[in-house]
Amino acid sequence: MERVPIVAANWKMHKTISEAVAFIEAFQPKVSEVGEVEIVICPPATALSPLRELVEGGRVQLGAQNVHWEAKGAFTGELSPSMLGELCTFVIIGHSERRAMFGETDGTVSKKLSSSLSEGLRPILCVGESLQQREAGETGTFIAGQVNAALDGLSESEINRIVIAYEPIWAIGTGRAATPDDAAAVIDGTIRATLANSFSQSAAGEMRVLYGGSVKPENANSFFKLDGIDGALVGGASLDPDSFLAIVEAAV
Ligand code: PGA
Repeated sequence: MERVPIVAANWKMHKTISEAVAFIEAFQPKVSEVGEVEIVICPPATALSPLRELVEGGRVQLGAQNVHWEAKGAFTGELSPSMLGELCTFVIIGHSERRAMFGETDGTVSKKLSSSLSEGLRPILCVGESLQQREAGETGTFIAGQVNAALDGLSESEINRIVIAYEPIWAIGTGRAATPDDAAAVIDGTIRATLANSFSQSAAGEMRVLYGGSVKPENANSFFKLDGIDGALVGGASLDPDSFLAIVEAAV
């Protein structure tokens, strides 16, 4: 099964509009000729509108880092799928930082997924276990539970538009990446196996599953060379154009 790789940048709460514009101006010309890979940048929401015009017609697609599930209403500080749909293509849903610090649950993740899909956004669904869960041997059960809870009630054609990012919590921002073999074991042995069980073998085969957690230019290739890993969700190393470029090139 040939799956086009995706390399996505999660800038988190980094970069003002002018810093984001400077990044795109430096980065974009360098990827115009790059081979088959989807490149996604998820800046803070404030930078989506200014970047949209800059990336139009080019290789960079934009994504948001969060979304609310309701279409509109009294939800101070939140952005709806249709608001983001005017500005970007992708949306990260269920990042572990949002689960840990902002009360996001499997239930809200599931609502965010279905309302984003109805608005035509392409969700990047994040799942990942804590160090405690890994050490207790609970990784497989926990990740399968996260995947099933998030995708509950969705049709196969809907899940075909989702990308999953496997991000072990203990590997995020720590410099301590999972080993490529451990990551691939969860991606194929748990995530794709769960999809095959709950949906179908072909849904599992078509799903692009990324690895995230301390991906750097130095280790990117060791993940991308494994068949089951279809790219990366990159935090820290995506903030510098040359470092993110090196990771994009490794994925081609
Ligand atoms: P990191 O973050 O690359 O800085 O570990 C990854 C993420 O949180 O998506």
